[in-house]
Amino acid sequence: MMNFLASYSRTHYAGELRKSHVGQQVVLLGWVQGRRDLGGRIFIDLRDRSGLSQLVFGPDLGTEAHTEADALRSEFCIGIVGTVKLRTDSGGQANPNLPSGEIEVECSVLHIFSKADTPPFQIEDDVETREEVRLKYRYLDLRRPKLQKNFQLRSTLYRATRDYFHSNGFWEFETPFMVKYTPGGARNFLVPSRLNAGKFYALAESPQIFKQLFMVAGMDRYFQIVRCFRDEDLRQDRQPEFTQIDVEMSFVTEEGIQTMMEGLVAQIWKDTIGYDVPRPFQRMPYKEAMGSYGEDKPDLRNPLKLHDITQLVKAHDGGGVPLFKSTVDSGGIVKLLRIPGEAAQKLSGTETRKLEDSVKGLGAKGLGTARLEPTAATGVSAAWTQSPFAKTLSSTLREAIALEIGATPGDLLLFQFGSPKLCNTVLASLRQQMGKRLELISPGWRFLWVTDFPMFELAEGDKWVAAHHPFTSPKPEHVELLGKDNGAVLARAYDLVLNGNEIAGGSIRIHQKDVQAKVFAALGLTEDDFRAKFGFLLDAFRYGPPPHGGIAFGVDRLAMLLTGAESLRDVIAFPKTQNGTDLMSDCPTEVSNKQLEDLFIRLAPRAPSA
Ligand code: AMO
Repeated sequence: MMNFLASYSRTHYAGELRKSHVGQQVVLLGWVQGRRDLGGRIFIDLRDRSGLSQLVFGPDLGTEAHTEADALRSEFCIGIVGTVKLRTDSGGQANPNLPSGEIEVECSVLHIFSKADTPPFQIEDDVETREEVRLKYRYLDLRRPKLQKNFQLRSTLYRATRDYFHSNGFWEFETPFMVKYTPGGARNFLVPSRLNAGKFYALAESPQIFKQLFMVAGMDRYFQIVRCFRDEDLRQDRQPEFTQIDVEMSFVTEEGIQTMMEGLVAQIWKDTIGYDVPRPFQRMPYKEAMGSYGEDKPDLRNPLKLHDITQLVKAHDGGGVPLFKSTVDSGGIVKLLRIPGEAAQKLSGTETRKLEDSVKGLGAKGLGTARLEPTAATGVSAAWTQSPFAKTLSSTLREAIALEIGATPGDLLLFQFGSPKLCNTVLASLRQQMGKRLELISPGWRFLWVTDFPMFELAEGDKWVAAHHPFTSPKPEHVELLGKDNGAVLARAYDLVLNGNEIAGGSIRIHQKDVQAKVFAALGLTEDDFRAKFGFLLDAFRYGPPPHGGIAFGVDRLAMLLTGAESLRDVIAFPKTQNGTDLMSDCPTEVSNKQLEDLFIRLAPRAPSA
């Protein structure tokens, strides 16, 4: 058998050949995309990661190669030697849809490296294939040009990241994946220890504590492109193992970290898609984000805004609307989404009524609406129509609301009242839905730092949990509120949001062990508890820890946004499904009793499925 690779080396990638290569002898290596047999000549589309070139085999070009080409089928892996020709010179036509469409390669030598079974789906971009099939044959799915481009971009993203950090004095280290289990944060995957009966490692949800220890160790500036593991419920933008660009810096403020990260973003955007990101990025306190957008990751490409009218409603004692009054009297809020007249025109009465059904799916009891009479002279004087409040609402409250929100005639107002959480969830979702439906989302990249997050949030059972993680520093002026008024404590934490996606999150850390102990106590951990769990960190803080802070970017999310992919699965080579399974290798699997015995594990009987 001929040893093709000993005799020939690749001269070009198939997709790179152009008119300027005409006359050159080339060696190409790749896969058969398609085959046509026309009047004694065989035409093959050869695909490699760069694209396609058309190959021609004929008895006059190479008898042996022509005979062998007869056997070629889709996805055979081949090598050829040939000469680049203009398609038009041999009576053919240029293909304007293909970058190499002006040329073809007349082949004198063909070598088949391996044959292929008929693939379960065609290796083309827009071929409709069920995602389960694509994931089962992921190595074929990955041959598709679109996915190959996604991974090329991902690789460039890594290079840009490393270039940037190395040129800014950061050192790159690894941290352990198998770590001590610590409570709080995301749920951990556990790994049983064979050498330590009955004990478990946790898979690291992030290198958080280790990167802080690097700062204690005097490393000053650290970064790592690192895999993290979280046993969470999965969504389009969440995977159980995902990649972070993880960063920590000593002797910095929030501003120092943010500016450094804006530089990173600028380099990544420039190197991957050639876009110059304007800096500095906008900043917005959490409170304002929740107030005007109902969420902490607002998509600022959408101009629609929410308005909290609780104080107005209170001042007017409900303004004659019993539901308004009972809501504010019982500590609830009243909020509305304003859709300006011009955009609101696109929504029919029927469509507006149907919105109520869509918000019920989010837990809303209903949706109050009002249209401001389009023919009115001003927003303030406009009567409210198509509204359950029209008859009862006092004209003074109506006018006060219109004035407060800057209403104009024709506006559509959508109301929610009740708990802040419900109002915000419902109106934030409606805002996005309406933004898309009314085509209000402007193109482009809208970066936003969301700052001044609350330090704690109430979890189920009215327990305080760390909103970011328990190593986040409270604002110095709020330290004294720890344990007394946890809800009022703000953190030195920030998220970077892009077009409605949280792409990074970080904070300035606590570096004083007494403050760290107070935070643990505020979280309801007893001293013994936090000594047992985080004692090593507190010990480290006894030895001159520097002030420090950091951040982590979700690489998969960055890649998803930069490639325009709809799911993280299109930028992760071997992703898991919604159920956390890998369809290709069929994982996770059961293991033998012997393996379990070695790990000192006995399975509990499974509850009968409901
Ligand atoms: P955080 O938990 O906010 O911070 O994570 C940082 C970023 O990682 C991405 N991300 C995810 N991406 C895909 N799938 C997931 N399951 C997933 N979870 C998070 C998000 C997020 O913004 N140690 C801290 C960082 C720090 O304080 O320095 C941390 O892990 O884009």
